[in-house]
Amino acid sequence: SASKDMAGQRVLITAGGTREAIDPVRYITNRSSGKMGYALAQEALRRGAQVTLVTTPTGLDLPAGVEAVMVESAEEMRQAVLERFERVDVVVKAAAVADYRPLMQQEQKLKKKTDHLLLELVKNPDILAELGQKKNRQVLVGFAAETNDLETYALDKLRRKNLDLMVANDVTQPGAGFGKDTNIVTIFNRQGEKEQLDLMSKAELARRIFDKVIEILSARV
Ligand code: C5P
Repeated sequence: SASKDMAGQRVLITAGGTREAIDPVRYITNRSSGKMGYALAQEALRRGAQVTLVTTPTGLDLPAGVEAVMVESAEEMRQAVLERFERVDVVVKAAAVADYRPLMQQEQKLKKKTDHLLLELVKNPDILAELGQKKNRQVLVGFAAETNDLETYALDKLRRKNLDLMVANDVTQPGAGFGKDTNIVTIFNRQGEKEQLDLMSKAELARRIFDKVIEILSARV
């Protein structure tokens, strides 16, 4: 649609892979490129929404007109998102949040000494699940990257995290992996309905996702 059908809507999008510090010069991360989140921000802006992008460093250009909040770790992302949650209408969590972080963040650079080094990890908070607990009117959209049993895991996450939409991709399919400009997804809603989409650009997928968000918002009033 060419119209500004999201005018007045406040949208918060997360993007990129979190960085979990080991010491001042090292961190653990994942292969997320941030491209899906940035495409979503671009599309929400195009439709007239007020957009906040909570992002890790990705090297991508920030879409013009976005309010950017730079974060690194899952805990920083959690703080940034929770602080703003009450003031937004839609949250799309495209970020790849690390499931675990190093238990200890060394204040000084680790020195190379022993042949073996054990790194102990602890679970990160699940930001989206926390939003699902807190939400009142907000439309919540999650992403899931799976390698098997896509539908089972996607629906389980949608219910467990109290989401409105779950965008699930099978990362084993060519054209659906990390860092690509395209994606192949199935979108699930709370009614258990699913829409299986063909290979498309992340820009086009962003349009499809916000079409569904608008449907949910307009069905409420
Ligand atoms: O990691 P998982 O497959 O459960 O991720 C599903 C959704 O939950 C994604 O939208 C992701 O951004 C979000 N998530 C989160 N905090 C975590 C883990 C995942 O917000 N610690």
